Amino acid sequence: MDEKLINGFSKLDKHQKIEWLQKYFLKDNDDSVFQEFWHPEKEKQKLIENFSENTISNFVLPYGIAPNFVIDGKTYAVPMVIEESSVVAAAASAAKYWADRGGFFTTILGVTKVGHVHFMWNGTYDQLQDFVPDIVQKLMEGVSSLEENMKKRGGGIQKIEFLDFSFCEKNLFQCRVHFLTCDSMGANFINTILEKFADIIENFFVDHSELPDEKKDVDIIMSILSNYTPECLVRAEVRTPIENLGQFANGMMAHVLAEKFCIAVKIAKHDVYRATTHNKGIYNGIDAVILATGNDFRAVEAAGHAFAARDGQYRGLSSCSLEGDMFHFWLDVPLAIGTVGGLTSLHPLAKKSLDILGNPGAEELMRIIASVGLAQNFSAVKSLVTTGIQKGHMKMHLMNILTSLHADDESKKAATLYFESHTVSYSAVREFLLNLKGIVV
Ligand code: MEV
Repeated sequence: MDEKLINGFSKLDKHQKIEWLQKYFLKDNDDSVFQEFWHPEKEKQKLIENFSENTISNFVLPYGIAPNFVIDGKTYAVPMVIEESSVVAAAASAAKYWADRGGFFTTILGVTKVGHVHFMWNGTYDQLQDFVPDIVQKLMEGVSSLEENMKKRGGGIQKIEFLDFSFCEKNLFQCRVHFLTCDSMGANFINTILEKFADIIENFFVDHSELPDEKKDVDIIMSILSNYTPECLVRAEVRTPIENLGQFANGMMAHVLAEKFCIAVKIAKHDVYRATTHNKGIYNGIDAVILATGNDFRAVEAAGHAFAARDGQYRGLSSCSLEGDMFHFWLDVPLAIGTVGGLTSLHPLAKKSLDILGNPGAEELMRIIASVGLAQNFSAVKSLVTTGIQKGHMKMHLMNILTSLHADDESKKAATLYFESHTVSYSAVREFLLNLKGIVV
């Protein structure tokens, strides 16, 4: 057996795991970085590492604030967790820009989530129909205690349907269940109900003595929520008279910006290459708030990209129109998120993020996150059709290079001035410092 393969890795403690890594996978002998990022308080470290498995350290990301978000007339400072430079600055700049023009407006277009039990039964869809009312009654009775709390909060099971999936596989059916999960993301609730439903469906036909034996068996394939949530949807929009847009870089006039901007958004509706980048920009903002509030960014991204391709072609998620003299820009985005349960209440910083946002319910958080996505998209597209994004990026990049070369504040100032009119590259910055001080550390 390859000596790098191991049994029982999970049983090792953190130190042993690091030692093992060092023995087989680390080139240098320095493992200090793992320990440097352990939380100094044992309890807090335990809390963090218990979120996952086989943990040896904590991976730290910047936690920033984008202030000045006016959403539906309320002002927010939005916490964002992201490693990419310029994203928080871009969100903050768009937030302020739109705060001066009335802010963002949002509409909740739906809050329904779905889950499925897939099963095989040796009958036709028509035959199954005869049993559906009875099955549904048994399903609802079977989960009444599991559903009780959610029902008290105004949520629970909304609808149960049985669909014919024989086009996919002979004798395959789907039980589709629609849920409301209130302020929780609801994954645990939905999956628990679905697995209970699976048990009930599996045993439903056994007692039907009128059925031949081959129709008494049900084979459950799987039971799981869907991360595709086109009915858990929010719209964020901004609107202003075109002349109010102001003047842009290099003296670009408002109506020129508006037209170019709308064309850029239109390109993302038609070209998958641009759509992917366009949506990536939107998720720069969305993911950052999702992370800061302890929500599941993989679920939110998966839903968003599936939604972007809902008519068969992957398209940009935002839309823009010039209606008479009005500039209108909006984003419809599925957001299945929660403000209670899961990491939202366990992770101290996620909890703090919700505090900063005024402890919103799930719907309010959907409104906030969609607005940040729209703001991010506005900033990116505005930059693209005016100055290009490199100007802003390069400023940050320059700072990173200067820091990595241990430049002092005075040198940083001089470099910032110099590189306003020169192209930034690692070697150019190095040479500049060398000429300036005669040394590079
Ligand atoms: C970079 O992270 C995001 C952008 O590429 C988005 C866009 O092109 O719209 C700037």
